[in-house]
Amino acid sequence: MTPLDDLSDLPRPAHLRDLFEQDPTRAQRYVTHAGDLRIDWSKASVDDVTLDALLGLAERAGVERRRDAMFAGERINVTEDRAVGHVALRMPHTSSFVVDGHDVVPEVHAVLDALADFARRVRASGPIDHVVNIGIGGSDLGPAMAYEALRPFRHERIRCSFVSNVDGADIEAVLADSDPATTLFVVASKTFGTIETLTNARTARAWLVDALGEDAVVDHFVAVSTNEERVAEFGIDTANMFGFWDWVGGRYSVDSAIGLSLMIAIGPEAFSEFLAGFHTIDEHFRTAPLRDNAPVLLAMLGVWYANGLGYDTKAVLPYSNDLARFPAYLQQLDMESNGKSVDLDGERVGHHTGPIIWGEPGTNGQHAFYQLIHQGTRIIPCDFIGVARAEHGDQEHHDLLMANLFAQSEALAFGRSNEAEPHRNFEGNRPNTVILAERLTPSVLGQLIALYEHVVHVQGTVWGVNSYDQWGVELGKELANQITPELVGEPTPDAHDAATNALIAWYRAHR
Ligand code: F6P
Repeated sequence: MTPLDDLSDLPRPAHLRDLFEQDPTRAQRYVTHAGDLRIDWSKASVDDVTLDALLGLAERAGVERRRDAMFAGERINVTEDRAVGHVALRMPHTSSFVVDGHDVVPEVHAVLDALADFARRVRASGPIDHVVNIGIGGSDLGPAMAYEALRPFRHERIRCSFVSNVDGADIEAVLADSDPATTLFVVASKTFGTIETLTNARTARAWLVDALGEDAVVDHFVAVSTNEERVAEFGIDTANMFGFWDWVGGRYSVDSAIGLSLMIAIGPEAFSEFLAGFHTIDEHFRTAPLRDNAPVLLAMLGVWYANGLGYDTKAVLPYSNDLARFPAYLQQLDMESNGKSVDLDGERVGHHTGPIIWGEPGTNGQHAFYQLIHQGTRIIPCDFIGVARAEHGDQEHHDLLMANLFAQSEALAFGRSNEAEPHRNFEGNRPNTVILAERLTPSVLGQLIALYEHVVHVQGTVWGVNSYDQWGVELGKELANQITPELVGEPTPDAHDAATNALIAWYRAHR
């Protein structure tokens, strides 16, 4: 019997309509402020009884202890025997974060200063007007998402492109739209061993050398990595390398040197604001009591949905076109972190862990999949995200957008009964959270990311899994490495199971 089993004995809260009727203060009491974020979880399927039980569970699961262990630089990533230090990446230089008896904050700031110098030089004058970030997973999704999200803050002359997929179509399209003389490639890879990134980087290097000669590489390629040796081996001068550390997980690295392309786009000052936004939420998470702690509350609601109510997925629905890539970013953050079935002791867990995260920006999703969210047989908790003031300044558009957000949140929670026409009946009682801020600034984006990072951390603690490894991606990589030569070399007809052998044989015959 794990503490999570207690959840199934808890009474299910009443319909949201009744909860609001019974408690006229609910719309105030179930709102939490963290930094610039107003987080309204009043339409969550909880009442005070559930909430007490959830916070009790968080305490018993050691949420505060494990949070403090992270901030203390302990090696909480036990399967990789590493500290988990992304919170150090956004600490002011007056703070300290000690890993193995060594304060890493000065090194963090030394790299930030070097990045800022470089970004300033690129921004100040030509020739570079196009930055191509080549990376995948955490070395792509963070900067790519933030580059879109902070569109109004970008440099007017310099654009960024992001190449991640090993599908040659990805790099082909970007190179076709690039001028070698004015393009800078940022090869971003924590390990510098990721086949997709190295393949794309080799293609880009060959393209550049073909146009401008070998000597041009030094001015058109920089690397971001923890692995100096491999960077040098690849043929990028390590003087043009920006480092980070093994205690930064890939999906937690947008605020490290991995954010270089973003920093070039928005400038070092805005990047500092971005980091300060993260830090605001880190401090909130570190210090707020559990009942007022936004990441803890949202995490425990997610635990309740997953383990108490049996909801398998969660939709993230930004009412901001600039946040279009935010759901994809959260997919890696959440699903690579908590998509685990073995606990910290290596035992199979007896409960569900990370939910399936998905979503699209509003209002597009409304005209695609919201039908299922409103009237389908499955309950899908939703996070709505919106801002009061749009950077584009077109008030008519923005009012319409936000009216839709509020309408969806209301319709899902309260529904509308129509007994005469069942197909027009809206049951309601579909839980959702509304996260609002005044504007989508670099700081607010940092706050949003940090909020979700800590939600993942708390949930990982309660589920007893290591949110900071990703062994589940290894088998596929290993098999792909084995299969690659089999597609082109001597046939090896019996190397795999019968179905895979047949797929390979078909491909060899048709390639
Ligand atoms: O395959 C998963 C993964 O290891 C992610 O965790 C990581 O963000 C991505 O690959 C890219 O890794 P790297 O930055 O080392 O190229």
